[in-house]
This record gives sequence, structure tokens and C-alpha cells, in this order.
Amino acid sequence: MKIGVIGTGTIATALVRGIAGDGHQITVSERSAAHAAGLARDFANVRVAGNQAVLDQSDTVFLGLLAETAPRILAALRFRPDHRVISLMGGATLEQVGAMVAPARANAVMLPFPAIAQGGSAVLMLGDADLVNSIVGARNQVFVLKDAQDLAAYLCAQAVLSPVARMVGDAARWLAARSDDPAQAEAFLRALVASSLAGTETGALIEALNTPGGYNQRLRLHMEAAGTGAALARGLDRLERGE
Ligand SMILES: NC(=O)c1ccc[n+]([C@@H]2O[C@H](COP(=O)([O-])OP(=O)(O)OC[C@H]3O[C@@H](n4cnc5c(N)ncnc54)[C@H](OP(=O)(O)O)[C@@H]3O)[C@@H](O)[C@H]2O)c1
Repeated sequence: MKIGVIGTGTIATALVRGIAGDGHQITVSERSAAHAAGLARDFANVRVAGNQAVLDQSDTVFLGLLAETAPRILAALRFRPDHRVISLMGGATLEQVGAMVAPARANAVMLPFPAIAQGGSAVLMLGDADLVNSIVGARNQVFVLKDAQDLAAYLCAQAVLSPVARMVGDAARWLAARSDDPAQAEAFLRALVASSLAGTETGALIEALNTPGGYNQRLRLHMEAAGTGAALARGLDRLERGE
């Protein structure tokens, strides 16, 4: 494919790193000069151009802009009716993106996570699943959602990632204080948590770790008694209400 990227920020850069080995011709916009230059340096099939040249050299366009500034930036550009547009913007619906890119149409909203740079990432999406799967599906797990309300709920729930990372990081620091290799302590806990959750549903994992009086059961019951489960539910409800 001839892939263009308007807005070469954090997530678009991770996406390009994840797909650059697949033989596409990729053109990224010159804003975020450090990101763009790094991609062009690292991959022979990535080049840097102005926003309009990105569109003119592409058949499939990713939008990595912030949703608040995208209408103004995109209004200055000329899309073609045959452009296929995939928005990475969490804050704009498929319909809103469609209005920004006319006469092209918005094919999909796709929300990757930074791990897409290495592959193996979860990817949320609305719209043309065949198109999204053809670009990132071979190396990542694509979750196709049914509508904007579904997407809004998934966007709230995915925020569990940061508290989980904090909890693993805190346990790694606790462990590092008692062992002489902090890097190994963190690597062990990351591998333990990631591999365990990748292969097993949470209910089955908790059951498997439910040896009466065992460390896993005791720590889980301690955390539940301290209110972490209720705090999580309240926090998700607050995100849903926009608080
Ligand atoms: N970060 C994530 O994990 C993540 C995950 C899924 C979806 N998203 C969505 O992805 C979008 C971008 O997020 P981000 O975290 O990657 O933010 P970001 O790093 O701030 O990226 C925004 C990019 O837009 C560029 N930009 C601003 N004005 C421009 C213009 N006139 N022409 C071309 N590019 C311009 C910025 O360049 P300058 O730096 O030069 O201003 C920056 O590179 C957001 O809508 C967000 O909802 C993010």
C-alpha cells in the first residue's frame, strides 16, 4: 500500500514502526520533526513530506492528530474521493472524521496502543475491519466494536492498564529492595503477569491461583478488603460519566 500519516506523534510513530517491515511505501508528515526524521532514518521505505504531499503520495491515510485541532488542520488539505482514511483519534467519531476528510470517506477509527510498535498489541476499531486487519491484523489482535457507545465503554475500561502497570511497578520496587538486581525483579514480574493473562481468562487464572492460604489468595483477599475492587468500579463509572 501507499500509506500516508498526517500527525506523526507518539501513537502514529509506534504504528509506523510496527508496519514498516511489511513492504508498504510510507510517507509521514514533517511536523513532529524528530519523530519523522527518526522513522526515515530507521526505515528505507519511509519518507517525510508536507501534509498535502503526504495525501498526494498515498492511497491509505492515517490521521494521528489531536481531535481538537484536526478540523482546522484537515480543512486546509485536499483529500481525493478514493483515499481510504483511518483515524487514530480517540476523540472523534467516524461521522466527525468523515466530515473532516470529504470528499474522501472515513473508513475506520482505529485505536492502537504503544505496544503496536513491537506487535502483539490489542487494537480497538470501528468500521472497515478488513482494511484494518490487512494492515495490522497479522501481528496484532484486532477487536471490532459495534458502535460509538461500545467504543466509549472500551475506552473507559482500557484505562485499567495504567493502574495495573502501577501495581506491577510497585511490587517490582518492593522486590528490588530485597534483591540485588532491580532490572531482573521488574522483568520477572512483567513476564509473569503478561504471560499469565495472555494465555488464560481472568476467572480461570484467579481460580488456579486460589490455593487456600497461598500467597496469591492471601494478597488478593487483602487487596479486596482494602477496597481496591470497589475503587476500580467507582473509577470506571466516573470515567463513563465524564468526571
Ligand atoms: N498515545 C496513545 O497511546 C494513543 C492511543 C490511541 C489513540 N491515540 C490518539 O492519537 C491521537 C494522537 O495522540 P498522540 O498521543 O500520538 O499525540 P501527539 O504525540 O501529540 O501527536 C499529535 C501530532 O500531531 C502533530 N501536528 C500538530 N499540528 C499538525 C499539523 N498542522 N500538521 C501535521 N501534524 C500536526 C503534532 O506535531 P507537533 O509535535 O510538531 O506539534 C504531533 O506529532 C490522539 O487523537 C489520540 O486520541 C493515542
